[in-house]
Amino acid sequence: MTHRRFNPKDDGGKLVIASHNPGKVREIQDLLARFGAEVISAGELGLPEPVEDGATFIANAEIKALAAARGSGHVALADDSGLCVHALGGDPGVYSARWAGPGKDFAVAMQKVEDALDEKQAGDRTAHFACALCLAWPDGHVETFEGQVHGTMTWPARGTKGFGYDPTFVPDGHAITFAEMDPEQKHTMSHRARAFEKLVAACFGDE
Ligand code: IMP
Repeated sequence: MTHRRFNPKDDGGKLVIASHNPGKVREIQDLLARFGAEVISAGELGLPEPVEDGATFIANAEIKALAAARGSGHVALADDSGLCVHALGGDPGVYSARWAGPGKDFAVAMQKVEDALDEKQAGDRTAHFACALCLAWPDGHVETFEGQVHGTMTWPARGTKGFGYDPTFVPDGHAITFAEMDPEQKHTMSHRARAFEKLVAACFGDE
């Protein structure tokens, strides 16, 4: 399949990150540092946050990337991601941010997940994080990729690094949570890093 590539020579190398989430913007900046793109966030440009009413991570990533590309006139990259807990039928899923409420309090969201599992008396605590990345051009062209990481939910929460549900997620093959890992270690296995590998191979760097 032929993919459209991001060309840093065009557009002054500017790439808008269509996110207002500082945790995500930081991770995306780290992951893109080597391509010489001048990364700016939608928040810095004062772009409004579109309504994320898609039913899937991919649909929501496309909504956000297209809104930022059309609103800024630059190529834009959006990430839509979340935690899917298997015994909860994939919840919180695309509602992962919303489970934290208007105060974006993830201690509350992690507690809600534990309460929901307890209520179901679910022995199965497996889950995965999923990440959809969409690169959109102002003319409406999009390139979309998805990555996942599987693991197990654990309580009480452990660790202070990372963000969101990281303190309650232990990736398969490891004994520590994402929030106990250094960012470099999380980047070797995360859903976002896996989606990034695909994006980078298809759209960035030398062919
Ligand atoms: P959205 O993609 O901005 O709608 O929100 C995704 C939400 O999923 C984030 O606010 C986090 O709560 C959660 N999430 C996504 N990726 C991660 C991660 O790498 N670690 C922990 N939580 C995550």
